[in-house]
Amino acid sequence: MPEAYAARVTKIEPFLAMEVMERAFAMEREGERVLHFEIGEPGFPPPQAAVRACEEALNRGATHYTDSRGLDALRRAIARDKSRRTGVEVDPGRVLVTNGTSSAMLLVFSLLVDAGDEVIVGTPHYPCYPNFIRFCGGEPVFVPTDPASGYALDVDRVKHAITPRTRAVLVCSPANPTGAVQEPEVMKGLAELDVPILSDEIYDGLVYDGARVTSALEVSERAFVLDGFSKRYAMTGFRLGYVIAPEAAMRPLQIMQQNLFISANEFVQYAGIAALEQGGETVETLRRAFDGRRRRLGEGLRSLGFGVPSLPRGAFYVFADARFLSRDSRALANRLLETAQVAVTPGIDFGTAGEGWLRFSCTAADATIDEALERIGRALPELS
Ligand SMILES: Cc1ncc(COP(=O)(O)O)c(C=O)c1O
Repeated sequence: MPEAYAARVTKIEPFLAMEVMERAFAMEREGERVLHFEIGEPGFPPPQAAVRACEEALNRGATHYTDSRGLDALRRAIARDKSRRTGVEVDPGRVLVTNGTSSAMLLVFSLLVDAGDEVIVGTPHYPCYPNFIRFCGGEPVFVPTDPASGYALDVDRVKHAITPRTRAVLVCSPANPTGAVQEPEVMKGLAELDVPILSDEIYDGLVYDGARVTSALEVSERAFVLDGFSKRYAMTGFRLGYVIAPEAAMRPLQIMQQNLFISANEFVQYAGIAALEQGGETVETLRRAFDGRRRRLGEGLRSLGFGVPSLPRGAFYVFADARFLSRDSRALANRLLETAQVAVTPGIDFGTAGEGWLRFSCTAADATIDEALERIGRALPELS
């Protein structure tokens, strides 16, 4: 990195899931047939109604800036949807619409974190969290979670990690990469600590075995809730997300949004309204498909010798212990890509607690899962 660039850029790491995907794309341009298990793309079409609403919006010229906080109708639809899912009345005035949940994350971390501040993060964790925190000058403080307890966050350990510099406790439920769904007692325990909860609820709705997500909105009035359309509605490329924030935070968030992004794309926001109003079937189709695939993939990996302590209760990933093959997950994922043309994410992307593990997205169809398992099985002698 040339010295002329800002130091903050050197503080963040590449997002390895994206790096693997970009390498797989390069292999495909060379004519190879890669099976994709590396990226969090649902692998289904978005709701037809969302596509139609987007087309119609483009055709009638909805191609402008909007209110920086989002279209009124979308903010109201989001508030209605979140109220329905949580049972907590959400004021549309507390909703700010962004280009993907990722942009909402940048706004919230920018709001909360000054140089030297700390954010507590349960780990294994979504790779970008520590990078956002460091980008804002802060430090992530990791609290390990244990596969044997279903990756439950230990409230006592979180409490002991709090210092005068702690600005938030980050929780992701259902979680990427572990599929953990935090119990109501954990969420209540976190709410009793004297720091705001920053709750990433992007996988809410994609749950199995009767699991139910407890939103931070149900337990705390100080919570910041991140959510979006990428996962539930298979709308990753639309880049549409939002934050629900305490009322006092709305004005500074709005000012950052005005300056940094102006607004989310107008025609995409119309797609969001349609998804919320007519996309329920898509959510259920995805949920049912992932439910079957997590079993197929989890059990298939177990039969090959991978450790899958428990099947995910939410989200759409199987996080598998691959230490019988290698303790270097990055090298292992590379070898898997080269020898079997199967793309997976190295566990180290999710923190040092994930080293030696691999994350498989359950987003490929059953036949592709079977083919990948066969390819991995055949490549095993070369992988260890
Ligand atoms: C936990 C989590 N949060 C946020 C995101 C990013 O979401 P978006 O596509 O809305 O920016 C992802 C994407 O994989 C994720 O897994």
